[in-house]
Amino acid sequence: MISIQNLSKVYRTKTIETTALNNINLDVKKGEFLSIMGPSGCGKSTLLNIMGLLDEPSKGSVEIDGQSISNYNSKSTARFRNQKLGFIFQSFHLIPDLNILDNVELPLLYAKVGRKERRQRSEQALESVGLKNRMRHFPSQLSGGQKQRVAIARAIVGKPAIILADEPTGNLDSAMGNEVMEILLRLNKVMDTTIVMVTHDASMAGKTNRLVRLYDGTQIQ
Ligand SMILES: Nc1ncnc2c1ncn2[C@@H]1O[C@H](COP(=O)(O)OP(=O)(O)O)[C@@H](O)[C@H]1O
Ligand SMILES: [Mg+2]
Repeated sequence: MISIQNLSKVYRTKTIETTALNNINLDVKKGEFLSIMGPSGCGKSTLLNIMGLLDEPSKGSVEIDGQSISNYNSKSTARFRNQKLGFIFQSFHLIPDLNILDNVELPLLYAKVGRKERRQRSEQALESVGLKNRMRHFPSQLSGGQKQRVAIARAIVGKPAIILADEPTGNLDSAMGNEVMEILLRLNKVMDTTIVMVTHDASMAGKTNRLVRLYDGTQIQ
């Protein structure tokens, strides 16, 4: 589902050069739940962003669902990203001025899905994370765990083949973190969604199919 070959990423400014990733080779199979661990600054988010076509490699190739990606800034890549990928971030990234339902509808709005279908699919996504009764709430009126469940609903509303989650439980206490993890595990099992998750939490990683460890931009396991 995801194939990464000889991937390197170097960030350059006028004065410094940072090698964030150094010759990574990684294949993620359809339906696999992969976790990525490693110390802060080792390149986890960079790798996830490149898998998510949000950032461009300096070297190497990325293939998503059989399609090799060449032009990262094109409209067709943006459309492909919107169709294939759902994102979940540590700090939720909800829009504070929109209620929960409107937050979840947003990706469908970008995909030009009609109003009625948008509403129906968003309600369904919220129901699947147990938040249909909070549709008219605003993000500030929810707990951290609830916010992350909204973010999951938003990530899955377009029925993406792949979910990329960057420390999704990093800002949550262990009870809420476990709830979020249960939802991701269910999604992986029931919908066969391929998931790549960055985590600091070994017990979360232990529930996934496979663990990849990064150190200083290099894959060490
Ligand atoms: N936009 C950027 N410009 C310059 N350096 C960056 C940028 N993004 C990340 N880096 C550097 O790349 C390395 C990897 O960062 P990151 O992928 O965010 O690590 P992690 O998510 O594992 O904490 C770090 O040394 C970081 O400082
Ligand atoms: Mg990070």
